[in-house]
Amino acid sequence: MILIESKRLVVRQFKPEDWRDLHEYLSQESVLEYEPGTVSNEEECKSIAKERSKDNLFLAVCLKDTNKMIGHIYFSQKEPREFLTWMIGYIFNPSYYGQGYATEACRRILKYGFEELGAHRVIALCNPENIASWRLLERLSMRREGIFMKEVFFKTTGNGQPVWQDTYQYAILKEEL
Ligand SMILES: CC(C)(COP(=O)(O)OP(=O)(O)OC[C@H]1O[C@@H](n2cnc3c(N)ncnc32)[C@H](O)[C@@H]1OP(=O)(O)O)[C@@H](O)C(=O)NCCC(=O)NCCS
Repeated sequence: MILIESKRLVVRQFKPEDWRDLHEYLSQESVLEYEPGTVSNEEECKSIAKERSKDNLFLAVCLKDTNKMIGHIYFSQKEPREFLTWMIGYIFNPSYYGQGYATEACRRILKYGFEELGAHRVIALCNPENIASWRLLERLSMRREGIFMKEVFFKTTGNGQPVWQDTYQYAILKEEL
């Protein structure tokens, strides 16, 4: 059972009962603007929270003071495992933006990855239009390593054509933390 603390936060494994807090932000279209998929209803959030409780791929970020879950982090080792590279991703509840919670949680997870899991490199991907996301990555001292042009699509046009989007790749090495 993972339980990691920072000054204001606890980052821990998901619990099925997190579905309510999860629904508070996964039901908002603006939160998913740069993510694959669409908004989730209550039933879908119950099933997501239950599924995520089974492993540590997604971690719940909670306020220490109130136990409120305010967002989550995806932190997963990439293949081949011998390259010791992890990927980080994050989604937070807009009611808690602008207070440095995402920075604090991700910074703590990077430290956990490098110091406890033995990571050598951590990468993150984001849409260049998602300014809040790449600003967060830069606050974490991650380096912009490149831009992949029209690499992915999460949406299609009315006649089924892909809406291609570019991707920034950011990374940080253990010695850069
Ligand atoms: C990406 C995302 C997590 C960033 O959220 P955020 O609120 O900007 O990030 P933080 O919680 O770290 O807060 C940083 C802001 O709080 C301010 N802040 C206040 N107190 C702070 C503190 N103690 N420490 C750091 N920053 C602090 C910073 O100045 C910054 O404000 P600014 O953007 O006006 O400069 C959020 O926009 C999100 O969840 N988006 C939807 C999902 C998404 O797109 N995910 C990424 C897909 S690639």
